[in-house]
Amino acid sequence: MANDSYDLVIIGAGPAGYVAAIRAAQLGMKVAVVEKNATLGGTCLNVGCIPSKALLQSSHLFEETGHDLAAHGIVVPAPALDLIQMMKRKGEVVGATTKGIEFLFKKNKIAWLQGQGRIDAAGKVSVLGMDGVVKDTATARNILIAAGSEVTPLPGVTIDEKKIVSSTGALDLASVPKHLVVIGAGIIGLELGSVWRRLGSDVTVVEFLDRITPGVDDEVTKFLQRTLAKQGLKFKLGAKVTKAEMSGEGVTLTVEPSKGGTAETLEADVVLVAIGRRPYVAGLGLDKVGVKLTERGRIAVDAHFQTSVPGIYAIGDVIDGPMLAHKASEDGIACVETLAGQKGHVNWDLVPSVIYTQPEVAWVGRTEEQLKAAGVAYKIGKYPFTADPRSRANAATEGFVKVLADKTTDRVLGVHIFGAEAGTMIGEAALAVEFAASAEDIGRICHAHPTVNEALKEAALAAWEKPIHL
Ligand code: FAD
Ligand code: NAI
Repeated sequence: MANDSYDLVIIGAGPAGYVAAIRAAQLGMKVAVVEKNATLGGTCLNVGCIPSKALLQSSHLFEETGHDLAAHGIVVPAPALDLIQMMKRKGEVVGATTKGIEFLFKKNKIAWLQGQGRIDAAGKVSVLGMDGVVKDTATARNILIAAGSEVTPLPGVTIDEKKIVSSTGALDLASVPKHLVVIGAGIIGLELGSVWRRLGSDVTVVEFLDRITPGVDDEVTKFLQRTLAKQGLKFKLGAKVTKAEMSGEGVTLTVEPSKGGTAETLEADVVLVAIGRRPYVAGLGLDKVGVKLTERGRIAVDAHFQTSVPGIYAIGDVIDGPMLAHKASEDGIACVETLAGQKGHVNWDLVPSVIYTQPEVAWVGRTEEQLKAAGVAYKIGKYPFTADPRSRANAATEGFVKVLADKTTDRVLGVHIFGAEAGTMIGEAALAVEFAASAEDIGRICHAHPTVNEALKEAALAAWEKPIHL
């Protein structure tokens, strides 16, 4: 049994932990990462961001080939689906990405202690094997918890990852379900619902609230729902699933109005439970060492990511803030830079978000609803992609860019994009809000022509004074 000593021991090798490890090593620390999975990269690389985007891309190409090429003068026979190959490609993308992290660990001399990490005291970590027996111990000047999150379970609907699946099972189905019922119209539900709809499933989305995608700008949400419905997704809003029973080959779901009322049943071949994620803190030994949780079960940290126990820090999905990979990584960088005596900081209010449906939804900063609630006087600049020549050339004119700016100062407070390339476009908007740009600033920047980002410039001009091309 090894008992090595480190400057920093990190528990969890997701986007929070592995990025923190690399940055800490760059800053001269001796670093070990405890990760229980057989591969590095956490939820995001193994069963989250990366495999879902691989399937979104493949299913998008499948749909485009089947429906959208004729308008370009490209005539092809109806495409056939080779799901095994599609899944194989997804696996290769994941494999290359997780191997890449292994390479970066070696390059930066980061030790990977494979096993379940448990904190025994400040500065002391045990590494347990699959059998629950301690196989290594490590001492550390500082410990960083980056243990991530897991799917929130739904009482009465037990996940077996075959017929009733979480996102992990939904990324690995062996055949296309005839009827997929998705519980939860959040990001996972809409992305993975879109994948299987494109591949041929009938998809019904059951959502507790009267709207989809809570937290997204209301106007964008309305357009998104209308578009997804046109694509074939069926929505049951204001409804909750109270029971799931196996029935022959499928599942019978009991669905009730959220506010109470008459129950009905829904037959599904596969059910995807996607009602949110919760922090994963099991087995870390937090009680024993006195690390406190917030009311919502996340690890409580101060402005420098330190928990209630000096020398123990936490970042990523286990703490507050949006549960997003890039936020988790920025937490990690800020935390270890602070440990190295620098000044690390992450503004969680300016973390960009993307929903990778088609068209995509992307936003950064505040929504109209948040500005209204805060009593901020704002102005709106909007520009539709129908007016953008590159979008016309791309045959991708659905959607718009909406810039929200302070009525008095013109400072950009939020940008909301519904469009084919929203996820890529939001980078420029994030830069602008982070640097406190005004709408006029964005509008006066020379944008390359013809690019879809000209729509952001025009929306900014519309917020400031007047767009040129509308
Ligand atoms: P995780 O990635 O969950 O990593 C935590 C790691 O800690 C895991 O590897 C776990 O095995 C390990 N661990 C936990 N406890 C222990 C222990 N005691 N000992 C040893 N190891 C331990 N976010 C985006 O920004 N963009 C997306 O497109 C996106 N798509 C997603 C799609 C899906 C289907 C899902 C489920 C999530 C998606 N997310 C996306 C969210 C993103 O995956 C998370 O926000 C991100 O992974 C959080 O990073 P993390 O490092 O905090 O935690
Ligand atoms: P979510 O929080 O995005 O959405 C959950 C939805 O389920 C909400 O609309 C909620 O109202 C609804 N809901 C809750 N309880 C319900 C019930 N009992 N019955 C019916 N509906 C119910 O959570 P989701 O989609 O599970 O994703 C988890 C997190 O993973 C996201 O919040 C995001 O942080 C991350 N993620 C990010 C992605 C991206 O950045 N593109 C992609 C996928 C996940």
